[in-house]
Amino acid sequence: MKTIIAHKELQDSLDDLRVGKSSIGLVPTMGYLHEGHLSLIKRAKLENDIVVTTIFVNPLQFSATEDLDTYPKDIEKDTLLACEAGADFLFIPSQQEMFCDDVLTSISIAEISSILEGVSRPTHFAGVATVVAKLFNIVGVCSAYFGEKDWQQLHVIKRMITDLSYRVEIKGCPIVRDADGLALSSRNMYLTEGQRKEASNIPRSLLKAYDLIKSGERNSTAVKQLIIAQLEKSTEIGIDYVELVNGETFKVADRIDDETRVLIAVKIGKARLIDNMSALNGPNI
Ligand code: PAF
Repeated sequence: MKTIIAHKELQDSLDDLRVGKSSIGLVPTMGYLHEGHLSLIKRAKLENDIVVTTIFVNPLQFSATEDLDTYPKDIEKDTLLACEAGADFLFIPSQQEMFCDDVLTSISIAEISSILEGVSRPTHFAGVATVVAKLFNIVGVCSAYFGEKDWQQLHVIKRMITDLSYRVEIKGCPIVRDADGLALSSRNMYLTEGQRKEASNIPRSLLKAYDLIKSGERNSTAVKQLIIAQLEKSTEIGIDYVELVNGETFKVADRIDDETRVLIAVKIGKARLIDNMSALNGPNI
């Protein structure tokens, strides 16, 4: 695996490989890699000749009150893990390399960016889209791998691809979970031991909701109430939102059908955690 800091060097290396018709898989990350990220790299490796993993803690997607300054980093460990998982290139640009002194361009995807996550984080998805667009422009034609934990992010990026005709195929990959069902996230490291135990209420609430749906319930309000009641059992958890929406259009789903997605965002201590499941298929626990 080759570590690259300059985008021009990555472009030149990939151009050379493309001459030989190598297919390229791209796995964008903000580092502090866990099994979720590694599952993306491994799948990208299975499906492509060359895998590029990127690590860039993107300031554009953090608001002033968020955790940009404390976002966990361990480049040495990440380098080892990315290499073991099969990455061929690890692109670790500096802030200066990505955005020179300043960035004046912003890509905003209307509607989908201002609901759910976008209510608490109004500038978040424009920040994500702008940096992901830049990575797509640097890497060029590729398949790009994103985790389904960030369901709304995945759809913001898919919409950007459609609207702006990027020659990138997006591959959504299943959520990877801890033994108790908690979705893996770099931000789980913010949890104290007690908060980590309480966090298992998130997947538990999804499992309870799924049991209710399996028993025949199709009323979204009843399912939502059950999830909220389960989450409220923990005094550590502050609910941001619990919603049932159409998983493609993000329109609120009053009745559950095979396109309904259950989306949850909560705050526990310093961590803001999200999770989701298909209402009819349940969480992959
Ligand atoms: O999901 C993430 O880690 C980030 O939002 C991404 C896609 C790498 C963009 O910074």
